[in-house]
Amino acid sequence: MKIVVVGGTGQVGRQLIRLLTAEGHEAVAASPSTGINTITGEGLAGALAGAQTVVDVTNAPVWGDDEVLAFFTASTGNLLEAGRAAGVRHHIALTIVGADRNPGSGYQRAKVAQEQLIVASGVPYTILRATQFYSFLGTIADAATVDGAVHAPAAAFQPVAVEDVAAALAEAATGAPANAVVDLAGPEKLPMTEFLSRFLDATGDTRKVIEDAAATYFGAPLTDESLVPTGNHAERIGALSFAGWLSRPEGAR
Ligand SMILES: NC(=O)c1ccc[n+]([C@@H]2O[C@H](COP(=O)([O-])OP(=O)(O)OC[C@H]3O[C@@H](n4cnc5c(N)ncnc54)[C@H](OP(=O)(O)O)[C@@H]3O)[C@@H](O)[C@H]2O)c1
Repeated sequence: MKIVVVGGTGQVGRQLIRLLTAEGHEAVAASPSTGINTITGEGLAGALAGAQTVVDVTNAPVWGDDEVLAFFTASTGNLLEAGRAAGVRHHIALTIVGADRNPGSGYQRAKVAQEQLIVASGVPYTILRATQFYSFLGTIADAATVDGAVHAPAAAFQPVAVEDVAAALAEAATGAPANAVVDLAGPEKLPMTEFLSRFLDATGDTRKVIEDAAATYFGAPLTDESLVPTGNHAERIGALSFAGWLSRPEGAR
């Protein structure tokens, strides 16, 4: 089966291309660096010709609130239109668990806008919402650093390995459209502060983590239900534990 992975050169996309190729599918990595651009439309029709399924794992190149909203709405709209013209039968997108519960985050608002375009398009779809990747913890810590210390709330957090995200997408890409949202989280739910402390300790980072109920997550105030599955969608749990991920050499994480 021909499956186009838009964003196939990125963190998730590379692993997804490897899995689909190993299963014998014609997996095409579509991104600006392979000559395919969902914003300008360059190469899109050619890449989608003959494809049954599209998996969208793009990310915006800049994360300002306006830029990220403009990216996901234009990219998703162009992709859905090109997919319809090419006869694509299944549109899959990767978004974020709880995105609709965090309107304070401009990034998550943009992911909700992406989901709404997909649902409204009439194209059979599967939306996989994943929790934060283990590999994103460093970015979270940096964004939360004030005067050399990481200020974070102790809200429930349940991050997941990128390889488990890729595995869930590969399964979706070779299955029937769910026409629904599926939530994917990691195997452990602990306070965000705990994950950050363990990450910094394991990476030899001396910054202290300070529990701060008033600290936001990229602008979003957090509760124990903000970033974790709450039982309102089908749910899937990743296999790789945080300890297992941390124990890997840095280049293999
Ligand atoms: N990080 C997290 O914790 C987390 C959690 C849940 C969901 N997600 C979602 O996961 C998705 C993928 O994230 P990632 O970390 O794998 O992203 P990434 O490594 O930054 O890769 C982004 C990909 O998007 C491509 N891209 C950028 N602009 C494009 C355009 N105009 N047309 C086509 N492709 C374009 C890039 O292509 P080039 O390589 O050619 O530039 C690259 O392949 C995102 O949508 C994000 O919202 C992330």
